[in-house]
Amino acid sequence: MPERPRIRSLPIPRTPADPGFWRSPVRGARFTAVLGLVLLVGLTLLFVTGLLSYAAYNPDLNRVNDKTPGKGLLGFYLFSWPTGPHWLYRLTQGLHVTAGIVLVPVLLAKLWSVIPRFFALPPVRSVGHALERLSLLLLVGGALFQFVTGLLNIQLDYLFPGSFYTLHFYGAWVFLAGFLTHTVLKTPQAVRALRDGLPRGGPDVLAAPDPLPATLSRRGALALVGAGSLLLLITSAGRSFDGTPRRIALLTPRGGTDPGPGPNAFQVNKTATAVRIRPADTGENWRLTVRGPAGEFRLSRAELLAMEQHTAHLPIACVEGWSTSDQQWRGVRLADLAALAGYPDRPPGVFVESLQRRGSFRKAALRDNQVRDGRSLLALRVNGAPLSPDHGYPARIIVPAAPGVLNTKWVETLTFGEL
Ligand code: HEM
Repeated sequence: MPERPRIRSLPIPRTPADPGFWRSPVRGARFTAVLGLVLLVGLTLLFVTGLLSYAAYNPDLNRVNDKTPGKGLLGFYLFSWPTGPHWLYRLTQGLHVTAGIVLVPVLLAKLWSVIPRFFALPPVRSVGHALERLSLLLLVGGALFQFVTGLLNIQLDYLFPGSFYTLHFYGAWVFLAGFLTHTVLKTPQAVRALRDGLPRGGPDVLAAPDPLPATLSRRGALALVGAGSLLLLITSAGRSFDGTPRRIALLTPRGGTDPGPGPNAFQVNKTATAVRIRPADTGENWRLTVRGPAGEFRLSRAELLAMEQHTAHLPIACVEGWSTSDQQWRGVRLADLAALAGYPDRPPGVFVESLQRRGSFRKAALRDNQVRDGRSLLALRVNGAPLSPDHGYPARIIVPAAPGVLNTKWVETLTFGEL
């Protein structure tokens, strides 16, 4: 009797819930621990510099400075933003956005390293396990949300369903809830994994039980992640430094080029055309209106140039994280205009209104410490020449350590005291 052919049992396809489904030999507690500790430092830096970015708006001073007025208790930490050191916001926001870009490879590698845990069954084993899973959802969902909104914000002009500020500000607190829980739960394990190589009393649940032959060591994989972050650092951080660093900052707006020679040849966010400033608005008939207890004064550019002029060397530091080097601004001190308005001593804050008819920062409020700082100017000239239309001709605000959006261009009215 001819032998019946034996039917070979086909291997049962593994599902992602099966640990054997994940075959990369790179995964493991130590790999994840290294990435986790880098993110612990990096995400903390992101959160702190993000909160500082919001505080730098002095949002509690006036509604025009506050894009998330419904924040309630989440504004507990706010304080009056200082005017020194003059490069403060340039540093904090530069760090925020650069760290946000540079951490992308680390975040993605960390998520890749723990992805098998997301599919582990049963999804919930106990109340404690359910809470841990919930914190992971807030952490991973919150972090991805913050990175996506942040990166889109700096790369593409406000391309959001809803206000970036609301999304990113409240997203940060959702993220924080998950981040704190995860940090408390996982840091001891991560430290142990680095020290002993394995989690206490148990198998390395992140390592593949049936790994494929290695094509890359864990150290090699970490080096690859590090190289990715380094490449992003080199091609993004330079957008805040003139010359070669800015020229090689190809990945971000305002990088990759040098705006060329000339006193007004430095980076600009909104151009006069973009916010519909017409030459007629800024011509001979332009007048600055200054209001205060002493009355209302309308000053021409010539009259402003006839007042005592002062010089300040200050950068433009944009909320999108790029900045210029210090430029030499020249104009009238805000404190001197406050004196004209009726506040010769200890001037109060000022409400600034621009000629621009579009844009969410055509009005801004400056606090008294900002008005009183001798470097705070209504600038009429820069680097020895009149301001260009894109830099705010006929007159613009320049205040040390303030976000670019509060240095109002094409100024029309200054109202001292009423904030
Ligand atoms: C977990 C990560 C992050 C957290 C917790 C975080 C947190 C914050 C917070 C609290 C603010 C202040 C929001 C406001 O002024 O209303 C902020 C502002 C900002 N963040 Fe983030 N952020 C994160 C990631 C990122 C990333 C990855 C980027 C981009 C690369 C980014 C770009 C920005 C920008 C451009 C602003 C200023 C917005 C403006 O004032 O116009 N953020 N961030």
